[in-house]
Amino acid sequence: MTTSREPDENDHARVQAVLGPWWGGLKGDAGALERALLVPRLYFQHFTGTSRLVERDGELAAFLIGFVSQTDPATWYIHFVGVDPALRGQGIGRELYAWFFEQARRRGAKRVKCVTSPENTGSQAYHARLGFAAPVPDYDGPGLARVVFTRELG
Ligand SMILES: CC(C)(COP(=O)(O)OP(=O)(O)OC[C@H]1O[C@@H](n2cnc3c(N)ncnc32)[C@H](O)[C@@H]1OP(=O)(O)O)[C@@H](O)C(=O)NCCC(=O)NCCS
Repeated sequence: MTTSREPDENDHARVQAVLGPWWGGLKGDAGALERALLVPRLYFQHFTGTSRLVERDGELAAFLIGFVSQTDPATWYIHFVGVDPALRGQGIGRELYAWFFEQARRRGAKRVKCVTSPENTGSQAYHARLGFAAPVPDYDGPGLARVVFTRELG
């Protein structure tokens, strides 16, 4: 059985545990550490209403961590998303994004943004497929290039 819910603090360790394997070891140990540091416990304390966790038969199947821009409430931001490799290509990522877009629209948002690594070509293809546009390279400075995606909600 597949269920979807708001995450809570107890989910932090479960999500941390998949940041290596679900990313296929992207950028090695340094990449795994970078991702762990990008997903601290505070997201599971202070950003739960705009985040989602999917379980299949009680096992973690997918998650999305998002938030509302504190600078511009018309912009919502997807910080991290992951789907169990065994369950990819079935529309779970698309459903999580559809959920986020719907929450954003209901609260008057105009656009959704996210950032991904230049090395993460799968993520770039996925975001392009979901209507995100205008990638901007070298976003976070030398050695910290990022690809920025924006999707107008219309
Ligand atoms: C990116 C990711 C979340 C996609 O999840 P998913 O459940 O497999 O995606 P979906 O099945 O909903 O696919 C949605 C669309 O994107 C396309 N897509 C997804 N991954 C793709 C890939 N690697 N290459 C090309 N297209 C891809 C699908 O073909 C689909 O298009 P369609 O609906 O027109 O057929 C998943 O591959 C993942 O967890 N990757 C590792 C973590 C990661 O890189 N996260 C993003 C950065 S934080």
